[in-house]
Amino acid sequence: MSKAISGFSKLHKSEKIDWLMQNYLFNSESSKKIITQYWNSDDKLQQLHDEFIENTITNYYLPLGVAPNFLINNTLYAIPMAIEESSVVAAASKAAKFWLDRGGFKTEVLSTTKIGQVHFMYHGDFKTLSNFFDVIKPQLIADAKPVTKNMEKRGGGIIGIELRDKTSSIDGYYQLHATFETLDAMGANFINSCLEQFAKTFKAEAEKQLDSPIEIVMSILSNYVPDCLVRAEVSCEVEELTDSNINAKEFAEKFIQAVAIAEVEPYRAVTHNKGIMNGIDAVVLATGNDFRAVEAGIHAYASRNGTYSSLTHATVEDGIFKFWIEIPLALGTVGGLTKLHPLVNLASDLLGKPNSKELMQIVAVAGLAQNFAALKSLTTTGIQEGHMKMHLMNILNQFNASATEKKQIITHFKTNVVTHSAVVEKLEEVRR
Ligand code: MEV
Repeated sequence: MSKAISGFSKLHKSEKIDWLMQNYLFNSESSKKIITQYWNSDDKLQQLHDEFIENTITNYYLPLGVAPNFLINNTLYAIPMAIEESSVVAAASKAAKFWLDRGGFKTEVLSTTKIGQVHFMYHGDFKTLSNFFDVIKPQLIADAKPVTKNMEKRGGGIIGIELRDKTSSIDGYYQLHATFETLDAMGANFINSCLEQFAKTFKAEAEKQLDSPIEIVMSILSNYVPDCLVRAEVSCEVEELTDSNINAKEFAEKFIQAVAIAEVEPYRAVTHNKGIMNGIDAVVLATGNDFRAVEAGIHAYASRNGTYSSLTHATVEDGIFKFWIEIPLALGTVGGLTKLHPLVNLASDLLGKPNSKELMQIVAVAGLAQNFAALKSLTTTGIQEGHMKMHLMNILNQFNASATEKKQIITHFKTNVVTHSAVVEKLEEVRR
């Protein structure tokens, strides 16, 4: 275990890098160059990034792209997206343009409440516990006042606390199941602070008032937020779906079949929803939100009926094609990284400084648009045509193609099918 170390976090950044160089990177000068070339020349900006997490050695870049022409409830947006996958921003832009000419996206926030739970064990009489809870509930709320008072001034706070009996699942297991409104904050810190205060009060009072002890297991928010829900929709007459090379009626039919397959077939649903998350994660990341929380919550929602299923749905009724998404999204436009990260600030400016409800709607639209673009390709040309066109540049860069080589090869592949081997062959030919 010669590579084990204690006190690593206390070392200076350069000492951490030296230690990594000696123990893992074979003192390779090229590794050191990679680490240092990503440092920002502005020391203050670099320090800001260093301090976001522990043990920062350098910065990890992702491209920040923009997909313009998103008409959402009659307002036009250029949506910032941080993502590495080559075709995502292009696909979003295409879908935005397609729907720009067909009335744009209509969105609605359906609900905004979030959940947190104190999980505890108790082996006494349930009626006694239930009576105790009813008596102590106002004190739980009152003791949390130092945490809640500012949120309450803005119109949010604790909405309710219930005692939940979970003993049919685990012997002696109960919950304080609390509901919160956190307005423009994602709310994790607010909710967790409230819950920890509930647990403190609950335990202290139980010790005084109950014969059987209460053992707090943990207090934590839930990232499952089925009551923090947003809906986005596009619709048009079936005939309006005509595009350069598609027959509107056939396209609508195939599109609806593709959605129906994702509704009933989990293998397809996972990939279908992955495509939706391409759009959602990219905006969530660009706006400094917690994409892991969003991912976990959305996938749980996709399984809410017992089978993993599509997040989008489509119908044709009375000649009208309708395509929509309904997803839970706990997003913040204040707190967290929002004021700290300059690019997050820029993303917010680009979107006209949205509040969290507006951001929920924009993010849902990005997911719906991404799914529309994917299904449109899948059910017409196939996905690889557009995908490989976008990936072409990555292949060329992998082989260090020069600007002239790139130009020549891109022209060639405007009319030829892009595959990895075809690009390599063409590059060899050009180089010969
Ligand atoms: C690729 O990142 C996403 C797709 O596979 C989504 C889908 O199949 O719907 C194209």
